[in-house]
Formats: sequence, structure tokens, C-alpha cells
Amino acid sequence: ETDPAKIKLGTSDSPGTRVRVLGRVHHLRSQKDIIFVTLKDGYGLMQCVFSGKLIKTYAALTLTLETSLAIHGELRALPPKAHAPLDRELHADYFTVIGAAVGDKDAITNKVQQDGDAQTLLDNRHLVLRGDNASAVMKVRAAVTRAFRQTYVETRLTEVTPPAMVQTQVEGGATLFEFNYYGEKAYLTQSSQLYLETCLPSLGDVFCICPSFRAEKSLTRRHLSEYTHIEAELDFITFDDLLAHLEHVICRVIELTLADPVIAGYVKELNPKFTPPTRPFRRMKYAEAIEWLIEHNIPNEEGQPHKFGDDIAEAAERKMTDELNVPIFLTHFPVEIKAFYMKKDDSDKRVTESVDALMPGVGEIVGGSMRMDDYEELMAAYKREGIDPAPYYWYTDQRRYGTSPHGGYGLGLERFLAWMCGRWTVRECALYPRFAYRCTP
Ligand code: 4AD
Ligand code: MG
Repeated sequence: ETDPAKIKLGTSDSPGTRVRVLGRVHHLRSQKDIIFVTLKDGYGLMQCVFSGKLIKTYAALTLTLETSLAIHGELRALPPKAHAPLDRELHADYFTVIGAAVGDKDAITNKVQQDGDAQTLLDNRHLVLRGDNASAVMKVRAAVTRAFRQTYVETRLTEVTPPAMVQTQVEGGATLFEFNYYGEKAYLTQSSQLYLETCLPSLGDVFCICPSFRAEKSLTRRHLSEYTHIEAELDFITFDDLLAHLEHVICRVIELTLADPVIAGYVKELNPKFTPPTRPFRRMKYAEAIEWLIEHNIPNEEGQPHKFGDDIAEAAERKMTDELNVPIFLTHFPVEIKAFYMKKDDSDKRVTESVDALMPGVGEIVGGSMRMDDYEELMAAYKREGIDPAPYYWYTDQRRYGTSPHGGYGLGLERFLAWMCGRWTVRECALYPRFAYRCTP
């Protein structure tokens, strides 16, 4: 007898077909005369029914979760309300164990996600990934990444791959990972922004989806040491153009992601309350946010009432975003609390043409700005920040060879996902999260 056709789970073969499925035992329910095996293969789930002679075998009696199996059988339609992941199940007539799973790790996937302590979960991330929530988040992650690429293709941005090993900082010296590069000092990149800016003359508007690295020593819900940074840079634009583009990208990415019914199903399970944002996003200047925080008695990092010039810390920002409960473009941050490259607002030189996009439940998911495009101003900014301009010669040259008004932004993919999938922390949104003191598995 030849083997019946091999199918991936979650595909739509019709009832009556004889098939062969391969996967791992995700759920197991034994009754007196029948064993229900929910098989999982990374594409979907299939309820498989073992009965008769099959369940008298040693292999069936000793079956454990995560054991990999090949099962032959016939697909049968199910009554609509039956407790199975699909509208059909597989009636097995033959199966073989490909690789047994040791019993003491039974509790590793869904069970540990609910009951396990944080360290156990993190140590067992390779197994936790097999669970329903973790695999759903990773599927959504793939779909969101694809949607960003598609949105950028639609808006005619060209993808580039800037280097991860660099000799310049972008977002301040405090979070640099330094390493020895053939005897010279080098860093893991914090942001590809400076490189993207240099691409504008040759490629037009550009984007990249690359890892960025930050040596963030404090442990928070939304800081990783390595994260996926989606960055874009646009040439010959105004600050308003930048905000309009960003709004479009966020809404279009959500739309494309949810257009796939399987992915939309995952999002619904993970975050039943998620509603796609509507345009325009609420605009709020930094100065207004400070007033709002004062009015609502939310203190600054020193426990004092907020004042103009203060950093808006994570907790305060989150409180405000959750309270307003809509996406916010927070704009016009003071020069002193923002990076050296940000362009000042012509009508108020105390502030920059900068924007943070804040989302309920997470806070900042995007940071962006117009860039200082004047040579003299940039030289003054290096000086103000105590940055040696020498290693930045290639960035400075952008202002010496046909400068232009331009701007861009960086979006943290894990934060975007934490918002969309309603996750407590960005750690659930990275395949193998890296944060202070955690580099395994
Ligand atoms: O606000 P940031 O530091 O801005 C930049 O790096 C700019 N150079 C980007 C640009 O204009 N091209 O970082 C941008 C975004 C943040 O809004 C946040 O979503 C994410 O990157 N991010 C982090 N995500 C996880 N862990 C961290 N430690 C992060 N630091 C920043
Ligand atoms: Mg920022």
C-alpha cells in the first residue's frame, strides 16, 4: 500500500479523503475506548481520533505530549458545535511514533505559560514557543513584518541593510554595547538612522528592518537589549508630511495584517479588545502633555510636579496614554532632552520637530523627527552634546553635498506587537528575548 498524501494541518481537504499528517501531540484526552489526540504542526491543529485496536498498542497507551507522530486516516466532517479546532477530524487507522517526548517536560507549553514562574518560562523559551499564545504572537509578528514591507513597497520606499557594527552613537553613549573590532573600539548599532539619511540622494526614500542594540540596565516591561527596529527616512518633506506618512503606515499595516483571516483570528484570541486606530491620531505638544500631567497630579521622576524640560518617564507616559486611551502623536520635545540630530522648530527654538507615537497599554512605540539639515547648526549640536565630530564625517557630509529637508522615524516591532496583541511585556513578542542579564537560550 502506498502512503496517502501528506497534508499540512489547517489546510482544507474535504471529508472523506484519506490523508497522512505529521506533527506533535498538543493535547491528549484518553477515555475508555477512545483517545483524542490534538496534533500540531506549526500550520494548524487537527483532532485525531484513535479507537479500536489502535488504542490497545503500547505506543498509544504510553503516548505523551510533544511526541512526534505520523498518523494515517480518514477525514470526517464534524457537527458544527463539536469541541475540535476544525470542522473535521481525522479517524486514525494507523500511526507511528517518530520521536517520543520525555514525560517530565509535559508541562512545558501551555501549562507552563499559565502556571510557570517567569524564570522557568524564560529558561524554557524553546519549549514555551510551542504553546498556543507564543506561537500565535510569532505568527502575528511574521504577518506584521510582511505588512510593513508591503506598505513600504506601496509608498515607494527602498529597503536597505545598514551595518550592525558601527563606530558612532545615535541615541546617547549610556546605552552603547562596545566591543573590540580588530583592536579598534566599535559598537553594536543603536539605530540605523544616520545610515538611512546617507541613502536618500541615491535611492530616494528608504527603510530597513534590522536589529538595534541598547545596553539598558534597568528591567522594564518594554526594554530589550536587542530589538527589531523598523526605520524609515524620507527626503524633501515637512514635519506634517512626516506625521501624515507615519499615520498612514500604522493604519495600513494593521489593515493588511488583519486582512488575513487566520492572523485576524490570532489577534482576536490574544487581544479581544483590539480595535484598529482611526485617523487622524490625536496630536499633543510636549508642553500640553506637561500641563496634562500637572493637572492630573502625576509626578516626575524626582517625585515633584512636572515642569517644562522634564523627561516624561515611562510610568507617567503610560498613565497618560492609558487614560486618554487613543493613539497619540506627542510632538515638539525640548532640545535638551532629545538627540543631537533633531531639527529645531523655526517658530520656537526651544523645541524640536520631533514626534513620539504613544499607544494605549505600551506608551512610546515610535520615535522620529525632522533632521538638522544645516551644516553650521549640526556642528554646534555636536559641540553642545560633547560629541567628537571626526567619526561622523560621513554623516556631516550629507549637509555639505546638497542638503535637503528630511526626516524619519524608528518603530520598535516588539512594542508594536505588545500593543496589537495585548501583551504585558515586549519579552513575549521577541523569539528569544534579550534583556539585561539574559542571553540564553
Ligand atoms: O526613540 P528611539 O531611541 O529613536 C531612535 O533610535 C531614532 N534614531 C529612530 C529614527 O528616527 N530612525 O527608538 C525608536 C523606537 C522606540 O520608539 C521604541 O519603540 C524602540 O525603538 N525602542 C526599543 N524597543 C525595545 N527595547 C528598547 N530598549 C528600545 N529602545 C527603543
Ligand atoms: Mg524614543
